[in-house]
Amino acid sequence: MTDQAASASQLETGVSQLRCIGCGAVGESGAKSVRCAQCGDLLEVVYPEWKTHARAGGLDAAALKGIWRQRRTSFNALDESGVWRFREMLPALQDWNRVITLREGNTPLYELPGCGRAAGVKLLYAKHQGMNPTGSFKDTGMTVAASFARQGGFRWVACASTGNTSASMAAYAARAGMRSLVLIPQGQITWGKLSQALDYGAVTCQLKTDFDGCMRVLDEVVQRMPVYLLNSVNPYRLEGQKTAAVELLERFEWEAPDHVIVPGGNLGNSSALGKALLEMKELGLISRLPKLSVIQAEGANALVRTMREAGGKKLVSVQAETMATAIRIGSPASWKKAVRVIEATGGAVEQVSEVEMALAKAEIGADGIGCEPASAVTLAGLKKLVQQGFVKKNESVVLILTGNLLKDPDFTLKFHRGDLFAGTEQEEEAEAVLAPLQRAPMVLDANATAVVKALEYADRFEPKDA
Ligand code: F0G
Repeated sequence: MTDQAASASQLETGVSQLRCIGCGAVGESGAKSVRCAQCGDLLEVVYPEWKTHARAGGLDAAALKGIWRQRRTSFNALDESGVWRFREMLPALQDWNRVITLREGNTPLYELPGCGRAAGVKLLYAKHQGMNPTGSFKDTGMTVAASFARQGGFRWVACASTGNTSASMAAYAARAGMRSLVLIPQGQITWGKLSQALDYGAVTCQLKTDFDGCMRVLDEVVQRMPVYLLNSVNPYRLEGQKTAAVELLERFEWEAPDHVIVPGGNLGNSSALGKALLEMKELGLISRLPKLSVIQAEGANALVRTMREAGGKKLVSVQAETMATAIRIGSPASWKKAVRVIEATGGAVEQVSEVEMALAKAEIGADGIGCEPASAVTLAGLKKLVQQGFVKKNESVVLILTGNLLKDPDFTLKFHRGDLFAGTEQEEEAEAVLAPLQRAPMVLDANATAVVKALEYADRFEPKDA
């Protein structure tokens, strides 16, 4: 291994275990099953050595911060990855040279001035996880879980997906010469995502069911065949996804923003980000926690209902329906983990309508950033949290944008052409609310006069506060 990795060795804490979130049973890291052998609940990665270090005076937070910063100048593959740069907070591999990395992470933090005005907060930022190699946050988790699949000697990896997981998994498998099996709900994922899986060589099965149905089929397939499950129930996925929060806090010079807001689907990402926040506090990297809030689409609001109707104690599943296909999920697998971190950080859960989401997506686009529909629920949800007084005007807020605008161009085109809600009950409401942001492409004769006229017309309608 390289000098950088070697120089960090005294601090490396990577001895990890898998612990069941239900019964607490503990097993060795690297286990093949992603569920507890005793009770069937989900597993999580824990780091008992952190405590040992703590008894000997604690992991040196300042030293960790220094090493992580120093690695940013390195050309070593692990250091170039925005995930493995933080490897002291990740499970260690037996052989670091076996890591599969596309140099994921290292995603930008942007200010969102227009969106801040629309939501009524002064300090609004977006951490854009859609700027990852395959265009979504999934890459940060996939680099870790796929590397463990390779270490485990698996020839096949598999996932059920609403599109982004499959795109990411297929890419990482291809890089390592592993085969990948993708189960997706037929007709319910975007072409952008589907085409990625195909190009990266996945065996792609479109099942005549929804995401939850795909998940059920896959659970059975992994029982019957030697394939490794790379959905976010895989605890190693969440370890990689944690690093978005570490990167964020590093960017804020370890002073936590007041709020972090994340979209919720299968609830792996919110669980991962929350785990990172709690671990950073435990390690002394930060002294204060941001509140982590999760936003869902009204039509796929299992977590919202679980909190409101069952006090977070029992999953309330729903029949999911939303145009944000990425989060069209009715039975989120990681709901228990998500409830735990929302409660531990004092966050909120909220839901937004399709029109609210579409408006928010266009507003994020108008700030020159753009994202996929599922990501935009964060801004739409923030508006509600501000109205409710949960987020105060002068508090700092970070939206986690999970996917790239180009993942779902169909949604965006329909929005601008005014077709998105055509023939639906929301048509009238949508027309009133969305029209100011619609920019339909024009078909003109090929002469300068026609273009100049279009320009003059557009100039008269320049947004006043732009
Ligand atoms: N945003 C995007 C763009 C997503 O693709 C997903 C999930 C989420 C948000 C929700 O994240 O599931 O961790 O709560 N997509 C998964 C997939 C389910 O298969 O690509 P979550």
